[in-house]
Amino acid sequence: MLDYGKLISDKAEKMRPSGIRRFFDLVAEMPECISLGVGEPDFQTPWDIRDAAIHSLEVGRTKYTANAGLKELRTEICAWLKRKYNLEYREDETLVTVGGSEAIDLAIRALVEAGDEVIIPEPCFVCYDPITTLTGGVVVPVATTEENEFRVTAEQIKNAITPKTKILVLGYPNNPTGAVLRHEDLVAIAEVLKGTDVIVLSDEIYSELNYAGSHESIASIEGMRERTIVVNGFSKTYSMTGWRLGYAVGPKPIIAAMTKIHQSCIMSAPTTSQYAAISALKDCDDDIEYMRKQYDMRRQYCGRKLNEMGLHTFEPKGAFYLFPNITSSGMSSDEFCEQLLQRKHVAIIPGNAFGACGEGYARISYAYSIDHLREAMKRIQEFLYEIKEEKKHG
Ligand SMILES: Cc1ncc(COP(=O)(O)O)c(C=O)c1O
Repeated sequence: MLDYGKLISDKAEKMRPSGIRRFFDLVAEMPECISLGVGEPDFQTPWDIRDAAIHSLEVGRTKYTANAGLKELRTEICAWLKRKYNLEYREDETLVTVGGSEAIDLAIRALVEAGDEVIIPEPCFVCYDPITTLTGGVVVPVATTEENEFRVTAEQIKNAITPKTKILVLGYPNNPTGAVLRHEDLVAIAEVLKGTDVIVLSDEIYSELNYAGSHESIASIEGMRERTIVVNGFSKTYSMTGWRLGYAVGPKPIIAAMTKIHQSCIMSAPTTSQYAAISALKDCDDDIEYMRKQYDMRRQYCGRKLNEMGLHTFEPKGAFYLFPNITSSGMSSDEFCEQLLQRKHVAIIPGNAFGACGEGYARISYAYSIDHLREAMKRIQEFLYEIKEEKKHG
């Protein structure tokens, strides 16, 4: 019998399993459970996109594409970024990837050497830390706070930068807090980075889900284009999670290095999805607007309910998550979410799954139907009432 423990690399062995996954395993055993756990749109992919995919199959477009992605798609990505955020990129500064996830992986692997530091404001999406660690990099977490609406400050970044800093990850609009950075935040961060060799990995996957105005990319701030890799994709904006398509744009030498890695491990992103994505970028502004309005309504409803029931929740301006403060329950994040799941069959994610400073919070995804959300809010309220009564009566 082989000793697999010895065979598996130390780095893989030491990877922390995602705190989100652990919860989904529990949920899978509870068919009657109401989940607000998944960060995935509940809408179907718009028909224009599905039709474009079907057509591409009918005419037999079933081969690999160019490694960097279909030229026509890269042209449309550049046009879309210009139209939406006034970003200027060319096709040879654009790489089509398997979701935003692959783009993040490639960016980190293309830049980070063993011992290099990667500044990661937390709470944040769960993949930045393990990818950095697998690459041999050192994670430098920076804790954001509710008092500052979970916006990382230029001052915090300045204090975290050392001669070893390679990347600053900015994930805004943010998963799990819903925070967005303001124009003045971006300008102040740009000022701190001026004259350094730090590259910003700007994960803008929720860019179209901004309820406070329109999204501003840090790459559009003076001096930042040359030091920013922008990651975006189709999963959230177009409700295309299963199509596995995203992209990165950035300085040509970095995109070229990322393309070399992509060539070796992926070859090219799924062809059918690429044809579908062309239609998404060209034909689906109305669909985006419709979905954003729906999310906004749900955001306001759930935010109001949570505050009314005594879970203080700051108003998130982006993405589709709420991040209520659960400390008034007297429980830890893990206890709160496990009890809520066991007693009321509602699944939400402990805030500490997104970094240590998420302790005392929980992530609620509102990418669910309003009926589903209503029932979940009712059960959370019952849960809070019950634990309060239990405390009162010892
Ligand atoms: C902040 C953030 N970035 C990137 C991703 C990856 O998305 P995908 O690989 O589906 O494009 C997610 C998915 O949840 C996310 O929340």
